[in-house]
Amino acid sequence: MKYKHLNVRPKALEALKHYNLPKGPLGFGKYSTPIMIVCDYADGKWGELKLAPFAFLNLLPTAKVFHYAQEVFEGMKAYRVDGKGPYLFRPDKNFERFNLSCKRMAIPEIPREYFMEAIQAITAYSAEFIPQKTGESLYLRPFTIATEESLGIKPSEKYKFVVVACPSDAYFTKGTVPVMIERQAARAGMGGTGNAKTGGNYAASLISAIEAKERGYLMTLWLDSLEKRYVEELSGMNFFCIINGELWTPALTETILVGITRDSIIHLAKDMGLKVHEERIDITELITSIKNNECTEAFACGTAAIISPIECLGENHGTRYTFRDQGGNISLKLRQRLLDIQEGRYQAPEGWLVKVDLPQL
Ligand SMILES: Cc1ncc(COP(=O)(O)O)c(C=O)c1O
Repeated sequence: MKYKHLNVRPKALEALKHYNLPKGPLGFGKYSTPIMIVCDYADGKWGELKLAPFAFLNLLPTAKVFHYAQEVFEGMKAYRVDGKGPYLFRPDKNFERFNLSCKRMAIPEIPREYFMEAIQAITAYSAEFIPQKTGESLYLRPFTIATEESLGIKPSEKYKFVVVACPSDAYFTKGTVPVMIERQAARAGMGGTGNAKTGGNYAASLISAIEAKERGYLMTLWLDSLEKRYVEELSGMNFFCIINGELWTPALTETILVGITRDSIIHLAKDMGLKVHEERIDITELITSIKNNECTEAFACGTAAIISPIECLGENHGTRYTFRDQGGNISLKLRQRLLDIQEGRYQAPEGWLVKVDLPQL
């Protein structure tokens, strides 16, 4: 791609020359390549995209993001398995969701060209550090924060759009995941920010993560905030289950994040001949169907882990409802199909894989 808005700082190229990936496990989102994209918004417009060395952000303590959490982010991956690609997976969807989040958080939207150029450039310049084994990837984290130095509670007039890139190991959880049904706290309410990817939603979920861990679970399943009756999603993933051989997932509401993996799975499942239901799922009925062996498997899905099979749903007082086919057939088939597409082994539906051109260094 020809970059129209990118200014490559010589110091970034210098940093790339001297960088080596750490020895030992990369983990997930732990290490960044030595570069980042930065773009400032002031006086009603976005400035140029700078490819700069990875460094501290220079912010005063009065920057609004620290006080009023005016920020949004995205999570996406670039794949380079066996030297193919690098490929981005449905980046247009991340772009759309980024601006949907911006709108909700009163942050100026970023133009499409800027977002795409930033994502492509950081991937291209980081390409030699993308690990190449199946499941490994370059995790990309674009975000915008409010930087105006003023404690007045009103939308910031200054922002910083930043993208960092983290060479990462496969994020597959080992085995199957025990999930705690959260009966008290709520993640999101109608009219709130549940379908925006904004930090506060995640901060609000952490107290439940602590309780889940104390009680031997790995994740929280959130219910609707009003009746505590309908399944919504997990703290960082969407929820699916298989009932009588058919795939079920909660219908999207304004309290659920529009998962790109969710959308892709629905598409692939239909292709594979599965019947898919996007409907309300009543937690009491779901538990009954697990006990009856009608609901035989369930999984969580998202960019990071793709698909994590669920072992059981459980109450905080200890009762667990265990799926008959933990990590069952359908979950694993869908995971493999999606991974094969992302890593370039299986024909992707039109427009899903975007090849990134490497820069002439
Ligand atoms: C709350 C929440 N739900 C669902 C998802 C899954 O979304 P995606 O498949 O686009 O990664 C994520 C992860 O981004 C998330 O944070």
